[in-house]
Amino acid sequence: MRILSVVGARPQFVKLAPVSRALSGVAEHLVVHTGQHYDELMSDVFFADLGIPEPNVNLAVGSGSHGAQTGAMISALESVLQAHQPDWVLVYGDTNSTLAAAIAAVKLGLPLAHLEAGLRSFNRAMPEEHNRVLTDHAADLCLAPTELAIRHLSREGLAARSVLVGDVMTDVLYIVRDRVLAEPPPLPWNDSDSVVATIHRAENTDDPAQLAAVIDAIAGVDRPVRLLAHPRLRAAAHRAGVVLEREGITLHDPLPYPQLIAAVMRSVGVVTDSGGLQKEAFLLRRLCTTVRAETEWVETVESGWNTLVGSRLRDLPAEVSRAMPPEPVDNPYGDGHAAERVAAALRDAQSRR
Ligand code: UD1
Repeated sequence: MRILSVVGARPQFVKLAPVSRALSGVAEHLVVHTGQHYDELMSDVFFADLGIPEPNVNLAVGSGSHGAQTGAMISALESVLQAHQPDWVLVYGDTNSTLAAAIAAVKLGLPLAHLEAGLRSFNRAMPEEHNRVLTDHAADLCLAPTELAIRHLSREGLAARSVLVGDVMTDVLYIVRDRVLAEPPPLPWNDSDSVVATIHRAENTDDPAQLAAVIDAIAGVDRPVRLLAHPRLRAAAHRAGVVLEREGITLHDPLPYPQLIAAVMRSVGVVTDSGGLQKEAFLLRRLCTTVRAETEWVETVESGWNTLVGSRLRDLPAEVSRAMPPEPVDNPYGDGHAAERVAAALRDAQSRR
């Protein structure tokens, strides 16, 4: 069985790591990097730290408007997919790289599997919501991380093509957490009472008034805030004249994955609009305050470990200082062996074709 994974953005490299390990020796696995993320700290360090083999192909598409970026990826992927004729094109999550590979695969009649299928924010202003819905409906196999994702897929008529595998980000998180506990990596700061913050979503960065309000709210937190700045945030703040580094906020570059996990473990909480970080905070039992009005990872909110402040930014500082909730009763994100189930699901679905 030949599987061709298409990745391009930071969270996809994290998801690729356990999948690549689970497929090793079981299938021929080719990796295509679209080049959506290209800075060393946004791409190369993930391959090095997570032991992912070098991509077989890098399309070096780079940044651009949604249409230009997605179109360039579809065009470049077509000849790569044609040349390799994989048994599965495997796509991850909800970025423009995901949608581009989905379109390129189905137009060539190649079987498509979508990992992290069935997540929904129901916010149609989010580019990622369109990417994930369109990819799920194009896919021949929807690999879902949670029971709720399976329910969404069933409601949309996709039950027959869907398999619950668990969350592959949980697989990698548990491995990296144990490594970090055994040998803590150095961090750019030494204190253990700070809050780790990341902001990069278009809805928070691209409107200058919203960006200013988000950064003002974060500056109101009564703990030192370590703001790990995605390049999109820096560029947007520069354009809007919003000062990121101010009393209470220290600016840092994005961290490599093991350092990010170490930073969360050493923190008193997280403020973010990232999807993955909400879940990582939950699994590491750190309070998360999410700067969005909704989330795909609703289980983190239901358990009390995550709260959404997108529509009430004024409450952000108080929410960051809220009391710890009780230990969650169950683990909605799986047992850390999701990637093995991905490999099995791909094999089973192929044998039924
Ligand atoms: C993308 C995904 C988002 C995901 C995020 C993870 C889409 C629509 N969005 O958003 O779902 O949560 O990745 O980080 O696919 N840039 C650099 N260097 C890089 C990459 C980007 O400087 O290596 C800058 C460029 O100015 C670029 C901007 O960041 O225009 C945005 O990058 P882009 O890949 O378009 O989207 P992200 O915001 O990273």
